[in-house]
Amino acid sequence: MKNYKHLVLIAVMPLTLLIALDFQGMHVRVKASAGTMMSGFRAQQDKAGPAREGSQPQAKNAEEAYKNIQIFKGLPAPGVMRAMSFFTTSLGVDCNHCHVAGEFEKDDKPAKQTARKMYEMVRLSNKFLSSNRVSCYGCHRGHAKPEPPPEAWKTELDEMRRKGEEDQRPAEQVYKNVQTLKGLPAGRWTMLMTMFTKSLGVDCTYCHVPGEFEKDDKPAKLMARKMLSLTGVIAREIYKGPTSINCYTCHQGKAQPVSFPPTPAGSSAKPAETKPPEITRSGPLPSASQVIESYQKAVGGTAAFAKLTTRVLKGSIKADSGFTAPLEVYVKAPNKLLMVMQTPGGGATVAFNGKTAWQKNENGLREMTGTEAEFLKSLAQSFAGAGLDARLSNLEVKGKAKLGERDTYVIDALSAPIRMYFDIQTGLLLRQEEEVNAPEGKTKLTVEFEDYRELDGVKIPLSRRWTRPGFSFTHKFDEIRHNVAIDDGRFEKPVQ
Ligand code: HEC
Ligand code: HEC
Ligand code: HEC
Ligand code: HEC
Repeated sequence: MKNYKHLVLIAVMPLTLLIALDFQGMHVRVKASAGTMMSGFRAQQDKAGPAREGSQPQAKNAEEAYKNIQIFKGLPAPGVMRAMSFFTTSLGVDCNHCHVAGEFEKDDKPAKQTARKMYEMVRLSNKFLSSNRVSCYGCHRGHAKPEPPPEAWKTELDEMRRKGEEDQRPAEQVYKNVQTLKGLPAGRWTMLMTMFTKSLGVDCTYCHVPGEFEKDDKPAKLMARKMLSLTGVIAREIYKGPTSINCYTCHQGKAQPVSFPPTPAGSSAKPAETKPPEITRSGPLPSASQVIESYQKAVGGTAAFAKLTTRVLKGSIKADSGFTAPLEVYVKAPNKLLMVMQTPGGGATVAFNGKTAWQKNENGLREMTGTEAEFLKSLAQSFAGAGLDARLSNLEVKGKAKLGERDTYVIDALSAPIRMYFDIQTGLLLRQEEEVNAPEGKTKLTVEFEDYRELDGVKIPLSRRWTRPGFSFTHKFDEIRHNVAIDDGRFEKPVQ
C-alpha cells in the first residue's frame, strides 16, 4: 500500500475543489452537496440569486483564472486542473507535495519549481521529437523520483567501462560511421551499446545489420542518434550541465516508451465524465411538490428522521484508479460531521463542529473557512439525512429522463444551479448535478445515490458516487448505526 497518498488526495478531493473555489476570493456560495436536497432548501432561498444566468461554461486563460501562472500562460484555464491531476497520478504524490495547502500560488516548495523545469523538459522533448509521447508519467510511473536502472546493470556496465579504460582513441578513429558520438573514447563504446540494449529491452540487431554495424539501414539506429542529441539538448537547456536523464529514464526496458498510466483493472467501467441524461417532456408531469412529497414518504418521512440524533457509517472510499481505504463517518444532528479515513500514512480527518471546519492529515492541522466550510456543513446535513423543509415554489419540474434502467423526474432548484433526478417508481433521489464556480470556469459536480436500504424506519443510500470532470470516487458503507452516543468533543478541532 505504498500508494496510500492517493487516498489522502481522494479524501480531500471535494475539498480541493472548494479550495479552488476560494481562489480569486470569489465568494460564490457553494451548495456542492447532496445535502441541499435533504435539508438545505430553506437556507438556499434566503440567499437566493439568479445563479443560473450565463451558465454556459466560459473558459478563461490560465493566467486570468489563477495568480501565479508561468508555464501554463496562454492555455485555457480548465487545462490547469487536468494537468494537476496528471502530475499527481504520474508522481504518486498528493497536491501538497508541491503546494502549501490552500495557497496554491505560493512557490515555497522546491518540488513545484522542479515541476516547472520538468514541464519545460517535456515540452522541449516533444518539440524535438515532433511527438507528444514524452510525459511526466513516462519517466515517473507513479514515483516522485523515477526508478534508476537495476543495480545489477550498474555493476556490469562499470566492469565494461573499466575494461575499456585504456582505449582513449576517439571513436571515429576506430569505427567507420560515427556521427553523433565523435570524440567519445572508443573504450566506452561497448559499455554504451550494451546500455542501449538493456534500456530498450532489445538486442544489437534491433538497430544494426548483423556484422555490418556501420550501416544505417535500420530506422531504429537513426532514431537512437536523434535520442542521443535529445539527451544532449536536455542537459544543455534544462539542466545546464550534466543530467540524470538517460535512455532508461524514458524507456525503462521497452523500445516504445509508455506515455500514460494504464487503465487499472477492476476499475469501474463508467467514465469519469458522465454525460447529462437527456430530458423529455412527453406525457403529463406531476408538480414539484408532488415529487418532493413522494420522496419524503419514500425515505421514511420527517417524523422518522426526527427520532434520529446521530448516525455512524462505516465502509470504504474507492477511487476509479483502484485505490481504496477504510472510511468512517460520524454525524450528529443537525450538522456536526467527522470523516476519518484510515491510511498507512496516519489517516486523514475532516470535520465540522457546527461552526468551524477543520482538516488534519499527514501535512498537519488546518482550519477551513468560506466555501470549504460550507461544503462540509451541507455534507453533514446530507449524511444526517434530515427531513425536508422545502419551499416548493422554488422548484420546477423539467421533465423526465432515463438513468440506466430507471425512469426519473427531473427537478431544478431555481435558487441554485442544482438539478435532481427522482425515481418515478420508488420516489427516491438517484442523482444530483450541481454547477460550481471553479477558477477554470463553471464545472459540474455529480453525485449518484445507489443501493438505498431501510434502517430504523428511514431509507439511506449505501453508496454515493462523486464525479467531477477528470476524477471520480465512491463512498460505500456496509455498517450504519443510529443514536449511538457521540461526544461533542470529537467534532472539535484538536489543540496543537
Ligand atoms: C508535481 C508538482 C505538482 C503537484 C503534485 C500539483 N501541482 Fe498544482 N501546480 C504545480 C505547478 C508547477 C504550478 C504552476 C503552474 C505555472 O507556473 O503555470 C501549479 C499551479 C497550481 C494552481 C494555480 C495556482 C495559482 O493561483 O497560480 C493550482 C490551483 C494548483 N496548482 C492546484 C493543484 C491541485 C489541486 C493539486 C492536486 C490535485 C496540484 N496542484 C498538484 C505543480 C504541482
Ligand atoms: C525524461 C524523464 C522525466 C520526465 C518526462 C519528467 N521527469 Fe520529473 N524527474 C525526472 C528525474 C530523473 C528526476 C530526479 C531528479 C532530477 O534528475 O532532476 C525527476 C524529479 C522530479 C521532481 C522532484 C522529485 C521530488 O523529490 O520531489 C518533480 C516534482 C518532478 N520530477 C515532476 C515532474 C513533472 C510534473 C513532470 C511532467 C511535467 C516530470 N517530472 C517529467 C525525470 C523526468
Ligand atoms: C538503440 C539502437 C542501438 C542498439 C540497440 C545498438 N546500437 Fe550500436 N550504434 C547505434 C548508433 C546510433 C550508432 C552510431 C552512433 C554515432 O553515429 O555516433 C551505433 C554504432 C555502433 C558501432 C560502430 C559502427 C561503425 O563502424 O560506425 C558498433 C560497433 C556498434 N554500434 C555495436 C553495437 C553492439 C555490439 C550492440 C549490441 C550490444 C549495439 N551496437 C546495439 C545504435 C544502437
Ligand atoms: C525524454 C525521453 C526519452 C529519452 C531520454 C530517450 N528516449 Fe528514445 N524514445 C522516446 C520516445 C517518446 C519515443 C517514441 C517517439 C515517437 O514514436 O514519437 C522514443 C523512441 C525511441 C526509439 C524508436 C523505438 C522503435 O520502436 O522504433 C529508439 C530506438 C530510441 N527511442 C532509443 C533511445 C536511446 C538509445 C536513448 C538514449 C540515448 C533514448 N531513446 C532516450 C523518449 C526518449
